[in-house]
Amino acid sequence: MKELTARVFRYDPQVDDEPYYDTFTVSLNSGARVLDLLHEIHDRHDPTLSYRYCCGSGQCGSCSVRVNGEPVLACMAEAVDGMTVEPLNLVVVKDLSVDMEPLLEIMASPVTSEEATLPTKEETEAIKPLRDCIECLACVSECPAIRVTDFLGPAAMRQEMRIALDPRDQRNRIPETIEEGLFTCTSCQRCRDVCPKNIEIPGKAIEKLREMANRQGLTLDRHKAVAAIVEATGRSIDKIKTTFLEQVPEVVEPDCEVRGEVGFFVGCMYNGRLPDTALDMLEVMKRNGIRVIIPKEQECCGSPLIRTGQTQFLPELKKTNIEAFKKRGIDTVMTMCAGCGSTLKNDYDTPFKVMDVTEVLDQFGIEPPAKLDVRATYHDPCHLLRGQGVSEEPRKFLRQVVREFVEMPNLCCGAGGGVRSGLPDEARALGELRNDEIQKTGADVVVSVCPFCEFHIQESTDKPVKNLVTLLVEGYRKKDSGGDIHSPSYD
Ligand code: SF4
Ligand code: SF4
Ligand code: FES
Repeated sequence: MKELTARVFRYDPQVDDEPYYDTFTVSLNSGARVLDLLHEIHDRHDPTLSYRYCCGSGQCGSCSVRVNGEPVLACMAEAVDGMTVEPLNLVVVKDLSVDMEPLLEIMASPVTSEEATLPTKEETEAIKPLRDCIECLACVSECPAIRVTDFLGPAAMRQEMRIALDPRDQRNRIPETIEEGLFTCTSCQRCRDVCPKNIEIPGKAIEKLREMANRQGLTLDRHKAVAAIVEATGRSIDKIKTTFLEQVPEVVEPDCEVRGEVGFFVGCMYNGRLPDTALDMLEVMKRNGIRVIIPKEQECCGSPLIRTGQTQFLPELKKTNIEAFKKRGIDTVMTMCAGCGSTLKNDYDTPFKVMDVTEVLDQFGIEPPAKLDVRATYHDPCHLLRGQGVSEEPRKFLRQVVREFVEMPNLCCGAGGGVRSGLPDEARALGELRNDEIQKTGADVVVSVCPFCEFHIQESTDKPVKNLVTLLVEGYRKKDSGGDIHSPSYD
C-alpha cells in the first residue's frame, strides 16, 4: 500500500459560483490507477464526487480526465502523489464529468448505398489507423481551433475520413467536412499527442481530406495562390528583399578550429522574410567551430503544400532538395524552421540525418554566452515540440543566456496548417490567446525557434519576439564588449 495526496477539481454549476479544489489523502495499492483513486475518494471520503467510467480497461473512453494538465484515461494512468485531477477542457456537468453528448452526436454516421461493395484488403488497411477511436474526446478538448471557430474537431474529422475510405458509403464527404471546418486545423498535432489510441488525425485524416478537397477543386483560394507561387518560383513567399541565399557564400567557415560540419536547409521564411535571423545563426556556428554548407539550389520543403492538401508537385521539390545535399556528400542537414524540420524528418525519406539547429548546438556544445539582463519566456513551436520532439534543447540554451526564464502553457500560435494564409481571422484570434499567456508571464522578451511563430506572435503582442540564435548572438556581443576571454570550453 502507498499513501498519496491528490488535488481534485470540484464544481457543481447548480450551486457553486466558482470551481474549487479539494485535497484528499488516500491509501492505494502500488500501481493503482487514477480511477482507483477516484473510487477510493468516492467510497471513503466524499460520495458526492462526480466522475465517469465504464469498462475500466481503456476501451470505452468515458473516464478521460486531465492529470497535471494532460488528458489521460483515468483507468489506464497511474495514480501518483501530488497530482492534480481536473475535467477535460469541455463544459463541466459536475466535478470531473463533462458534457460529451453534443460532441458525440455531431459525428457523421456511415450510410450504406445500394451499390455498396465490401472494402478490399487495401481499403481495410487504409481504414485501420482510423478505426480505433474510443470517443474519449481528449483530442477535442485540446484542439486550439475549436476555441476560436465552429470547427467540429479532430474526432469528427477522423470519422469523416474513416467513412470517406469505406466503399459501402458512396457519398462525397468533402463539402460537408469543409462546412465542418476542415481548413481551420492548424496542424498543431496536439490531438495526435493526447490520443490514447495513437490515432494520427492531422496526417491520416485532415491532410488526406484536404487532398481530396484539392482533387475536387475545393482548396481555399489563398492556399491555391501559395501553391501557384511555389510552382512558379520554388518558394512559398514572394521575393520582397535580398534573400539569405543571395547574401551568403556556399560554404561558411568557422572563426576557429573546425569541430563539425552541417548542411543548412534555410526554408522560405528565413530566406525571404527573416534573413537576418538566419545570419545570426551563422554567427553562432562560426563562433562554435561548425562549418555550414548552404546549397543554393534548395527550394521550398513543400510543407505549405502538404498541410493544405496540394501535393501535386511535391515529388519534384523533394527530389531537388534531397539531391542538393546528397551530391555534396552532406550527412547532417540542419533546419532552423520548425515546419521545414518536421517536414524533412517526417514527410521525406532522406539519405542524410536532419537536425534542428538547437539539436546541432546541443550535440557540439557551445561556448557560454554572457547572460542578458532580461526575463524571457519560450514559445514551443508545434512543429518542433510535437513534430520533432524537441523541447529541452532550446530551454537549456535559453537558461544559459538570460537572467530569468519563465515557462508559459504550451499553446499553438495559430500560424500553421495554412491558417495564417487561408483564415487570417482565426490566426489572429489564436495569436491573441497566445498573447494573453505571454502577458501573464511578465516576460521582457518572447523567444522561439520558428519563423512562422516568430512572425505571427510578433503581430499579436507588444513584447519583442526573438529567435534563440539572436539571443545567443546578443549574449556573445555582451561577452565581447565586457572583455570576457573567449573561452575554449564548450558546454
Ligand atoms: S492538429 Fe491541432 S488544430 Fe488540427 S485538429 Fe488536431 S488539435 Fe485541432
Ligand atoms: S481520436 Fe483518440 S483522442 Fe480523439 S476521441 Fe478518438 S480515441 Fe479519443
Ligand atoms: S473506464 Fe473505459 S476507458 Fe477508462
